[in-house]
Amino acid sequence: MSTDDSLGRVAEQVRGCTRCRLAATRTNAVPGQGDPRAPLVLVGEAPGRAEDQTGQPFQGMAGRFLDTQLALLDLTREQVFISSVNKCRPPRNRTPRPDEVAACASYLDRQLALIRPRVVLAMGGTAAARLHPERTTAMAKVGELRGQVYPLGPEQALVVTYHPAAAMRFPSQRDPFAADLQRAAVLAGLLPQPFSGGR
Ligand code: URA
Repeated sequence: MSTDDSLGRVAEQVRGCTRCRLAATRTNAVPGQGDPRAPLVLVGEAPGRAEDQTGQPFQGMAGRFLDTQLALLDLTREQVFISSVNKCRPPRNRTPRPDEVAACASYLDRQLALIRPRVVLAMGGTAAARLHPERTTAMAKVGELRGQVYPLGPEQALVVTYHPAAAMRFPSQRDPFAADLQRAAVLAGLLPQPFSGGR
């Protein structure tokens, strides 16, 4: 990373990127969106149709679900930064392939290095596998990784949760998703510690 790197420069390079085959089928690359100094960065998998059309992250039904979950905590997407492992839509929304993830890796790395959030929330298996400190957990089940806080860097933590599209679809994942988002927001200092009862 050069010393004059910036989120704007990352976004510009993402929009012109041809490092992998996804460039050939995208309409718009989706670099990410939000507060450049956000204490919390949410990381999804890759753009879907609505994101590919607009160039903005989480615009479809999963995006509305995410906005609702943030609103339940009195938060908006402007208070966080929303990014993804891959910045271009894979055809038919298939899971990004390992070489596509590798080709895109430096963009997310640079965003995280520039924003320096206190907490990164990996949403879904692709983000968890990409960000977990032990990469050997590749595609580890989110259900096994969530519920813990992992050290990422100095004074930086990783929390893992389900992808919003999955949490929206499977009722059993909704409460865990909401709890993980709240935990991440509290750890990031965006919310006070929840009142835990007691005397
Ligand atoms: N899924 C993602 O991971 N990111 C988006 O922006 C939309 C859907």
